[in-house]
Amino acid sequence: MCGIFGYKGEGKTAEILLEGISKLDYRGYDSVGFATLDKKIHVKKGVGKIGVLKKKMDLSWLIGGMGISQTRWATHGKVTTANAHPHLSCDGNVAVVHNGIIENFEEIKVELIASGHVFRSETDSEVLAHLIEDALKKEKVLSKAVAGVLKGLQGRYAFVVMVKGYDEMIGVRNGSPLVVGVGDGESFVASDVHAFMKHTNKAVVLDDGEMAVVGDDVSVLVDGSERKVEIQEINVKGMESDLGKFPHYMLKEIYEQPETLSKTFASVGDQIKKLRMKPLHRIVIIACGTAYYAGLVGSYYFEKFLKFPADVQYASEFRYRDVVLDDKTLVIAISQSGETADTLAAVDKAKAKGAFVLSICNVAHSTLVRESNFSLHTQAGQEVGVASTKAFTSQVLTLLMFCMYYAKHKEGFNREKGVMEMHEVASVGEKVLEVLKSYDAIVKVASKYSTHANFLFLGRGYLYPIALEGALKLKEISYIHAEGQSAAELKHGPIALIDKNMPSVFLALQDDLYDKVLNNMQEVKSRGGKIIAIATKGDKKIGKIADDVIYVPKTSDYLSPIVSVVVLQVLAYVIALQRGCDIDKPRNLAKVVTVE
Ligand code: M6R
Repeated sequence: MCGIFGYKGEGKTAEILLEGISKLDYRGYDSVGFATLDKKIHVKKGVGKIGVLKKKMDLSWLIGGMGISQTRWATHGKVTTANAHPHLSCDGNVAVVHNGIIENFEEIKVELIASGHVFRSETDSEVLAHLIEDALKKEKVLSKAVAGVLKGLQGRYAFVVMVKGYDEMIGVRNGSPLVVGVGDGESFVASDVHAFMKHTNKAVVLDDGEMAVVGDDVSVLVDGSERKVEIQEINVKGMESDLGKFPHYMLKEIYEQPETLSKTFASVGDQIKKLRMKPLHRIVIIACGTAYYAGLVGSYYFEKFLKFPADVQYASEFRYRDVVLDDKTLVIAISQSGETADTLAAVDKAKAKGAFVLSICNVAHSTLVRESNFSLHTQAGQEVGVASTKAFTSQVLTLLMFCMYYAKHKEGFNREKGVMEMHEVASVGEKVLEVLKSYDAIVKVASKYSTHANFLFLGRGYLYPIALEGALKLKEISYIHAEGQSAAELKHGPIALIDKNMPSVFLALQDDLYDKVLNNMQEVKSRGGKIIAIATKGDKKIGKIADDVIYVPKTSDYLSPIVSVVVLQVLAYVIALQRGCDIDKPRNLAKVVTVE
């Protein structure tokens, strides 16, 4: 959460900062701020999204060849201009932008106030500026002064600091991502490479505990000693994030799925072949949010194809549980961004207990990928919309291919059947393309229900996790209260909610549990509930029970999560559109959750 970006060079600093920080607004978009340095530090900040602010903010007087900026997702302190970054020291000579949390900021703040410092914000971040101001009174080398300050900090964070009188900025990484871009006569420091990709694809990725000194050259310090700077060339292919003809990233990303699924299929098989593991006696899948639901679908695949159970746990719970793991446990960590704080902490715990960590991740240079023993790279391309869509279907496909690959090594494997199944998996993108042709039909259904305040999403078997995901999609972008349930669980409580104002979205495909789901639908209908069914093309019965039906092409049951979730993505998108919501940047959310 929060994006930070710094620039040093001969270019137009304010423009470069604006353009760079705009690329990071998926990390948080409550407020934005800039500081530049020439003879003194100049600051400009405001509340709101960058897209809106840039039209009214005059940045012309932000002069100087060095600058920093931040886009905020509020943790400590309300969304106000005073709490927006950069934060300054009392003398105004130190400017800091920060991402993450300084956990012991309250104690530090009390001491700083006692020694005469005056605070202008409610943030944890501001302590950094005051601490560095004090440290510079005793230690004139900026990197050493900052290193001294780090010793007293607790938490996971990254920050960039710029100080009057110094021709360098310092970037610190400790648990939140930070990468340095090395251009021709110019340098960048950012939460993510996208901020400077337009200028350079040469990057130095910092590890936790490292500090970058970005002056005319870039050096990296670990515990006060310089380490060799390794410049990586980041592959910019697939990183294009322009909207093209689409009004929103979410819609663009939904429509990209036929292609991202094909790419994932083509690539993941080869990646899996390189994985070497010891014999296992346990599998635990950890993730958050939508990635967790992908893991839940995966747990059904492990049972079906490998006859091996896989526990699925929220990474946020796993990290604090007395988990029983050892070196015969495989922990599969799933994440689009590879920067989710809870998932990273859970991975640390799993590794400390000796487990083998396999990640399924969409961002090749992310912290998760670097911290895993092995990583499978989903080929969804950059996902900008806060609501995860194409990353989810790629994660599910990767889990399916993983299980199908290892099923081949099992005794009694039917090769002929295996080849046919794989053939069908290869064409899942085409099935999704067919689903997308129902866009107008989905709009019609959405129009009937978009004013409702509550929704239920119901499914069974493979489609139970899809019911959970459908509810999450709707609530996060339309702010409608939605609950996902197993249709079988209805009569154990949720059925009490049913009346004409509570529409139920049933995932009612013709699989082994179809008849059971039809019974559950009847139970809702007989209580006056409205039913929207996602059904298999050609199903003649469903229309007699459901009020509205959206059809999807027939597939094997294990592909049905991928095909049917696309309908729920479009449904959520259209409802949010009809309600006038900010689809790509829903309130209170951020794309990357780098705080606990
Ligand atoms: O980057 P990650 O996959 O680790 O993110 C996990 C969740 O924060 C994420 O899936 C979130 O739930 C999305 N907003 C869902 O659309």
